[in-house]
Amino acid sequence: MSRSRMKLGAFLMAGGHHIAAWRHPDAYAQAGSDIDHFIALAQIAERGKFDMIFIEDAAAIRERDPELASQAARSTAFEPLSLLAAIAVNTSHVGLVATASTSYTEPYGLARSFAALDQLSGGRAGWNLVTSASELEAENFAASGLRSHSQRYERAEEFADAALALWDGVEDGAYLLSNGEAFADRSRLHPVHRHGKHFSVDGILESPRSPQGRPIMVQAGASDVGKDLAARTADVVFTASQTKAEAQAYYADVRARLGKYGRGHGDLKVMPGISPIIGATEEEAKAKYRALQDLIPDAVGVALLASYLSIEDLSAYPLDGPLPEMPPTNLIQSRQQLIIDLGKREGLSIRELARHFAGARGHWQVVGTPIQIADAMEERFADGAADGFNVMAPLFPSGLEDFVTLVVPELQRRGIFREEYEGTTLRTNLGVAQPGKS
Ligand SMILES: Cc1cc2nc3c(=O)[nH]c(=O)nc-3n(C[C@H](O)[C@H](O)[C@H](O)COP(=O)(O)O)c2cc1C
Repeated sequence: MSRSRMKLGAFLMAGGHHIAAWRHPDAYAQAGSDIDHFIALAQIAERGKFDMIFIEDAAAIRERDPELASQAARSTAFEPLSLLAAIAVNTSHVGLVATASTSYTEPYGLARSFAALDQLSGGRAGWNLVTSASELEAENFAASGLRSHSQRYERAEEFADAALALWDGVEDGAYLLSNGEAFADRSRLHPVHRHGKHFSVDGILESPRSPQGRPIMVQAGASDVGKDLAARTADVVFTASQTKAEAQAYYADVRARLGKYGRGHGDLKVMPGISPIIGATEEEAKAKYRALQDLIPDAVGVALLASYLSIEDLSAYPLDGPLPEMPPTNLIQSRQQLIIDLGKREGLSIRELARHFAGARGHWQVVGTPIQIADAMEERFADGAADGFNVMAPLFPSGLEDFVTLVVPELQRRGIFREEYEGTTLRTNLGVAQPGKS
């Protein structure tokens, strides 16, 4: 496996990843509902030779807390697969990764949608498989409420296997696509018969095999069972970590699990999030960060923190005191632990923790010059903490534009990021093996 070149994703989110981005003087209020805005962002990422753009999802508004709901511009978003179909026809090389849940869809329908995105983009689709930890989402679909963490993952395992079987059930050349005697070669079509605890699938996907074999599998769970699912099925894993030591521990842990599924280290790319705040000088970068941080009302920061900790009302505790003991969560266990560890390690009060967390929801934030940011990325890349990064600009489009014009050339100059795409499929550019091809 070549470790010499890092992989880059551009995690797009309407006006920006910073919770207060929409209040910034440079904010674009219509960002979440303007397709041209997203197309322009994807084209910036493609100009920067990013491996992929990445779109998160939740089939619900994001905030229950009224204070947060009225102050956080996170609830206007396009459904990712529809959005990426529009972006596909306006780009040519950048990979297109959509988040989709295994909790509120069925394998055949979702495998079919991703097969369509993969066909119409010429082999650039990726599926970020999530299990959906949001109670607001559960309320939109299931009268019985949010399933437990273990039930969600049990369903995800079965779902992933069925989707993979459907994609792999159609071999290369199964459809002859000519006006000869046969349109389909039945010997290359393998019906899927799966009758599990959660799903029943009897059929063949009505799509030719993807130009990249099948869509790229991305996973974002970080609990024990989440890491096992990633090690078994994912090509890319997206993760949140604060310190280099945390990132290295995650990296070593998830890669150590690959062997038991007969997979090698090169089969899985670990791509933690990074939120870069870029300035011509360190002072300018710090001032940019302060300007964003000053826009966060305490109540909003605290409510966001509480929602990730899955505690109803954090404001009942003294804001200048430490985080109280947290009950175990049924939501994102890994993120709750990250927050607890961050608070203890840096001795942060609830208010400070909330402000820190609001910048990038627990992802690594680096404030500095393009060189400092490239240094920080290179260090984690070289020291076994990452195979690449999912870049989360605090503000769009300027944060992504700055990264592409200032940081990407620095990474290229160091020889640790590509100057040209290796190919036209996401799989080729990521350098992960094509299933069914030796
Ligand atoms: C970095 C990261 C990003 C995630 N992005 C999403 C998302 O966009 N939508 C979603 O429903 N869940 C998302 N999740 C939640 C996971 O799919 C999963 O439901 C949750 O993490 C619980 O699993 P865990 O305890 O294994 O982390 C994300 C999780 C992580 C760690």
